[in-house]
Formats: sequence, structure tokens, C-alpha cells
Amino acid sequence: MSQRLNRQDVTAQNRIAWEEAAPIHARHNQARLIKAFKASGHSSFDDVATEMLQSLNITGKDVAQVCCNNGIELISAKNMGAARCVGFDAASGFLDQGREIAAAAQQDVAFVCCDAYDLPATYHAEFDLVIITIGVLSWMPDIDTFMAGVALLLRRGGAVFIYEHHSVLLMMEPGPADAPVDFELSYFTKAPYVDEDGLDYFKGEHYEATPNISFNHKMSDILMSCVKAGLQLEHFEERPKHISNLWWNVEAADIGMPMSFTLVMRQAV
Ligand SMILES: C[S@@+](CC[C@H](N)C(=O)[O-])C[C@H]1O[C@@H](n2cnc3c(N)ncnc32)[C@H](O)[C@@H]1O
Repeated sequence: MSQRLNRQDVTAQNRIAWEEAAPIHARHNQARLIKAFKASGHSSFDDVATEMLQSLNITGKDVAQVCCNNGIELISAKNMGAARCVGFDAASGFLDQGREIAAAAQQDVAFVCCDAYDLPATYHAEFDLVIITIGVLSWMPDIDTFMAGVALLLRRGGAVFIYEHHSVLLMMEPGPADAPVDFELSYFTKAPYVDEDGLDYFKGEHYEATPNISFNHKMSDILMSCVKAGLQLEHFEERPKHISNLWWNVEAADIGMPMSFTLVMRQAV
């Protein structure tokens, strides 16, 4: 990050970029999601997340999701039997969508609008499980401070479950299945990545978008951010499964690239 681009500038600009994307995502997805979640017990989790959350005995657990977007994963967690569910996100437009979907699902799920670096102290030590899924870590300019804040949400013995894109993907320009796989960035770069194409990763709609700013965090930095936050390693698996709406080219190339990972880090009892 340059001297003139501090963490607050980055998160403030990204919040604007996400708020701009919210009505566009809603236009593509909201009616379909409301219909789907009206069915009792609906889940948007894939088989990997479902199995992991079952192995973490989610039933009866108090669950937080940091950067929950429109809340469909948190509402799915509630449908899997979680107790209290609270989602945090900076973009109020997405949280409003989450409230509408939770109402359709007839589930009591709370949504709190705040920066991930400023999680309200009233929620500290209130949760057994914090989930962070698919497309969160790369928005964090400072992964150590982010993870320290996330760990504060946990009760003693609680766990953080992370299901994310593998960091190696950030080296490559995403594209459709027939696009070439070119390594464009160093795995070790700390430079911010500024994108001006907007955040409609569902339909690729072009709109007047505020540039969004993201970062690559190598796998060892992600792991060490959890360790520095006082958490202990319980599970870590790199996976071939493609979990994004991007990088269809890497999946199609079928070159044995890791595309996702699951990580469970636990607070000591
Ligand atoms: C790609 S979504 C990931 C969430 C979810 N897994 C999904 O697939 O929709 C990223 C979310 O992170 C939120 N976000 C990005 N930076 C944030 C920050 N500093 N504080 C809180 N939320 C943030 C955005 O508003 C967005 O809703």
C-alpha cells in the first residue's frame, strides 16, 4: 500500500464500490433467492462447506459471519440448526437484501452494518463459530489486524472457519473457460490491485463504477494472521474445487492448480 493509500481510505472506497454493486446483484439474484429460501431448510452452501460445518457441529452454535454480503450463507447456517446468527458487512444495500431473504426464510438472523476493522465491542466473545467465506480476505489491506478483530468475536474454545479462494489464483487474470491462463502478478506482491470494471461478477454488467481495491495474501500470511491472533490450527486443506464466479479459465485448463482451501483455527479453551 502506498503512503497515501491508508487502510481507512481503502475500506471507505471499497464500501462505496460494494454499495454501487448491491442493486445490480439484487436485480440479477434477489427474486430467485427469495423464492429459494421460502422452501424450508434451503441452503446455499456447497458440499464442502456443508460437510465442514456439520463436522464443526453447527447445530445449537452461536454463529457470526464477517463480510456476509446478502446473508445467504448465514441464513443457510441458521437453516442447518445454528442458534443466534449475526452477520457483519460494510454495505448496507446487501444487508437490506439479507433481511428480506431472512424474512422469506422465516428465520431470525441479525445484520449489522460496520467495517470489518471496527466490529462493535458488544459482540466480543459472543460466538462459538465465525465463518468467513468466498471472496473476503482479498478485500483486507491488513490481514493481521483483520484477523485479530475476528478472533475477538470468539468465546473461549470457539473456532473460525474460512472457506476461500486459494491465494495462488490471485496471480492470474480471471476469465471465461476459453481465455488463456497467464501469470500476471507475483505470488509475493503486496501492491494493491485496482479494478475499474465494477463488481458484477454474476453477469458482467458494465456500470459507472468506483474503482475497487484488493490485495493478495499468500497462504502463509493467512495462516500466520490467525496464529498472531492467538488461534490454534485445527484443520487446513488446499482443494481443487473452483468456488468463485471468476477463473473459469484456470478450471478449464485443468493443470492441477489449487483453487480453494478450508481452514479451521480455534481459540484455546
Ligand atoms: C464477495 S462478498 C463475500 C461474501 C459472501 N461469501 C458472498 O459470496 O457473497 C465480499 C463482501 O465483503 C464486504 N466487505 C469488503 N470489505 C469490507 C470491510 N472492510 N468491512 C466490512 N465488509 C467488507 C463487501 O461489502 C461484500 O459484501
